[in-house]
Parts: sequence; C-alpha cells; structure tokens
Amino acid sequence: MGDLAVTAQAIVAPGKGILAADESSGTIKKRFDSIGTESTETNRRDYRELLFTAPDVSAFISGVILFDETIHQKAAGGTPLVQILERQGIIPGIKVDAGAKPLPFAPGETVTEGLDGLRDRLQAYLGLGARFAKWRATYTITADLPSQYCIDVNAHALGRYAALCQEAGIVPIVEPEVLMDGDHTIERCEEATTAVLEAVFAQLFEQRVGLEGILLKPNMILPGADCSARASSDEIAAATLRCFRRAVPAAVPGIVFLSGGQSDEAATANLDAMNKRKAAGEVVPWALSFSYGRALQSAALHAWKGDAANTDAARAAFAHRAHLNSEASRGSYSPEMETAGR
Ligand code: 13P
Repeated sequence: MGDLAVTAQAIVAPGKGILAADESSGTIKKRFDSIGTESTETNRRDYRELLFTAPDVSAFISGVILFDETIHQKAAGGTPLVQILERQGIIPGIKVDAGAKPLPFAPGETVTEGLDGLRDRLQAYLGLGARFAKWRATYTITADLPSQYCIDVNAHALGRYAALCQEAGIVPIVEPEVLMDGDHTIERCEEATTAVLEAVFAQLFEQRVGLEGILLKPNMILPGADCSARASSDEIAAATLRCFRRAVPAAVPGIVFLSGGQSDEAATANLDAMNKRKAAGEVVPWALSFSYGRALQSAALHAWKGDAANTDAARAAFAHRAHLNSEASRGSYSPEMETAGR
C-alpha cells in the first residue's frame, strides 16, 4: 500500500490535478467534428502532443489519463508521448475500461465492461509507464432511475477493477458518474449520488481495496442540465461536501472531480467554492481537486481548430485553464482571473 498511497498523494499534491485526455476513438471524433477537423491518428497525436507540451503546466497538472492509442504513440519528433510527460514530472495514467454498454433488462441503463483480461493489460500498461488507471461507470437519473440493479453491478465491477489495479501496483481512479442530463433537481442528484457512493465503497471494502491507495473521481452535486431551479456555486459546494462527508471514508486521499458537461467557468468556480469552504474550517478530510476532460480542453480545442499555425495559441489556452483550476484547488480562484493578463 505504501507506494500506492505515495502515488495517490502525489496526484493530489497542493495546487495540482489531472488532465483527462483519454477520449475513446468515438468521443475524440465528436470533439474533432466540433472544430471541423478529421479524426486521423496524426491529428489525434498532434493535438495531444500540444497539450502535453504546453508551457509550465507541470506546476498545475500532476497526471494525465491516456487512451490506449496515446500510451503507445510517439511525438512528431520521435519521443514517446509518455516520456514527454515523465520528463516534466507528470504521472502517466491509462483508461482501462472498455466503455459503458447497455445493461440487460434495464432500459436506459449501462454497465461498464472491460474486466476480461484486465490483469494482463494492467501488466502491459505498467511496462509502458502507467502508474494510475481509470474506470468510469455511468448512471442516468430519471423519475425511477438509477435502479439498484444498475448501482450494484457497476459497484461490483468498480471493485473488481480497483482490486486488480492495486494487485498490479497501479492506483485505481474509481469513477462513478451520475450524469447531469435531465431536468432533475439538485436534491435528486444528491440522493442518487449518495446511493451510488454507498454501494461503491461497500464493494471496495468487500473486495479488500486499500482506500489510502485510490482516488475517487465523482460528479459534483448539481441540478440536471434542464432543471429550471439553478444553484449557486456555494449551494453546489455545500451539497457536494455534505454528500461526500456522509458516503466517502476519510482514508481516501483525494477526490478529483470530473467536469461532466459543466461550462469551463462553472467547473472551476464550483471546485473553488468547495475549497473556500474547506479553508474556512468546514470538515473536509480529503484533497479536493480536478480530473477534467472537457473543462480543461475545450478552450484549447477551439483555439487549435486542427491548424498547426494555432498550436501556440492552443497551448496558451490550455495552460490558462490549468492555472485557473489549480487556483480553484487551493480555493484561491476569482472570476476576474478569467480575463487577467489576456
Ligand atoms: P469530463 O471532465 O469532460 O466530464 O471528462 C472527464 C472524464 O474523464 C470522463 O470520464
């Protein structure tokens, strides 16, 4: 457990968080479609290389989650992308799930696949430099979902994955994502997330996972995207901290939130509001940081537009977002920073 805990703590070192750059082939194509760029292997490499070579981001980014293709890829100059990260002291991680697939006899719900052969794949990824991994389960909120069936099968799979990671000496990032799609209230999100987290931690305990050597990557407690009753950052922070205090043991070193479709500014402001409460003395036993995909990348993606001439502008856009989220992880962000120095 010693090494796992050291790695987990390094990932949530003060002022640092994770860049999730592990979009599957289908998801990265969607992102590239939004900027009119073809999703070729070279374009994917160029885009990820520009993120990994943005100036000074190692002050803000401790780890990067890679997709299988990327962990094998070399930069244009021939250096493996993993080495480019390692030379900056950034820890490489790897997505190991095979995606959320329809759950039999549960319309509208999914179970995440990828356990078959995982022990061997973890060994291969370890050899390629991965020191942490990620597995994402998703849950949809409706009037009567998520079902306990969906909650239980995904919790079991997360437990199996986490135990196999720790056996291999890899820190598991445990990602149960209650999706923000829908018109549900913030209270309903809290209720569903609490049920999901209770089941996940029961399975982690049952399957002998050492909590000091994991990181939790959850959703924040938010109203559904189509809910008319909006919530302030401080209301979101209060609900999120209450929910996690009740369901997440204090032995977990860090909670690294996903952005989940929130705007860049909201993802940053909400994380900041939680850390401001912590700084003001609210009981918060874990480091609270970010593991954002969209909220760290969308400014860079739109600055880049698939054109090499925009590489430096895209790097700067990514570095700016990484800096602001670093401030939020310390509770020292303010909205004025969005435009300062630009
Ligand atoms: P978002 O921050 O875009 O939700 O992505 C994080 C992630 O890794 C989802 O699995």
